[in-house]
Amino acid sequence: MTRHFLSLPDLSAEEFRAIIQRAGELKRLQQQGEIVETLKHKVLGMVFEKSSTRTRVSFEAGMAQLGGAAIFLSPRDTQLGRGEPIEDTARVLSRMVDCVMIRTFEHEKVERFAQYSRVPVINGLTDLVHPCQLLADMQTWFEHRGDIQGKTVAWIGDGNNMCHSYMNAARLLDFKLHIACPEGYDPDQQILASAKDHCRIFRDPAQAITGANLIATDVWASMGQEEEQKQREKDFAGYEVTAALMSLAAPDALFMHCLPAHRGEEVSAEVIDADDSVVWEEAENRLHAQKALLEFLLT
Ligand code: CP
Ligand code: NVA
Repeated sequence: MTRHFLSLPDLSAEEFRAIIQRAGELKRLQQQGEIVETLKHKVLGMVFEKSSTRTRVSFEAGMAQLGGAAIFLSPRDTQLGRGEPIEDTARVLSRMVDCVMIRTFEHEKVERFAQYSRVPVINGLTDLVHPCQLLADMQTWFEHRGDIQGKTVAWIGDGNNMCHSYMNAARLLDFKLHIACPEGYDPDQQILASAKDHCRIFRDPAQAITGANLIATDVWASMGQEEEQKQREKDFAGYEVTAALMSLAAPDALFMHCLPAHRGEEVSAEVIDADDSVVWEEAENRLHAQKALLEFLLT
């Protein structure tokens, strides 16, 4: 049966941990200059209906490094943008490439694509979840601090796609997630119900962050919500992750952000640009974690 990666629960906890471990191995091998060609002659199709820097470059570079190739497809210059049904696109692409990555708006679209695809489909971000980012975030945590089981993570900000993936990760890897979000910006109720034993909602960021081991945030207005920016700046007042807020966390707490970041909104420059900030490594780990994911799905 074809395995897809549409959201984190598509993996078991053991598989999630194995991918993190393999990501670390691939990272070391690359740093040592070793060539690993486990995906020789394999081709990844990448459909982007939203902008991307990290996701595009990490998948494209990752395929090249593993001996394969990647094709960038945008709706502006494919028939998808002219109304060709997603089902037909899935049936055709999956007869030509070995794997498809999709970044789009409605989560239902990647599900429909996967339903008609003969090859593995990877979710490169939807309005609902961003599972690839969590592979990289968890790899970064494991590299610095070991297993995350039993730790406390504080999510400060919007109950958005990134928050939902943190909720799924909390359930799979068994950590506690404190979610601080303003009223009206709560995460999805269904995901919350499925992860209720691991998640707790707060309105006060200071309360959520106190004693936490990992603090994560994201933009207040996600892609597709640009026109809400001004309103959200008002609604999220007090939710900026500042050094003062970070001082309430555990003394060795890490700060993560999927990027792109808006300094002075969801995070202060002082926090994200700190000398010991792991956000650049977190971004780099997209490459290693997704190479491990591609190997997992394709070999
Ligand atoms: N974090 C992330 O997915 O970045 P991009 O939007 O640049 O791909
Ligand atoms: N929540 C953000 C994440 C970007 C990587 C968005 O969806 O735009």
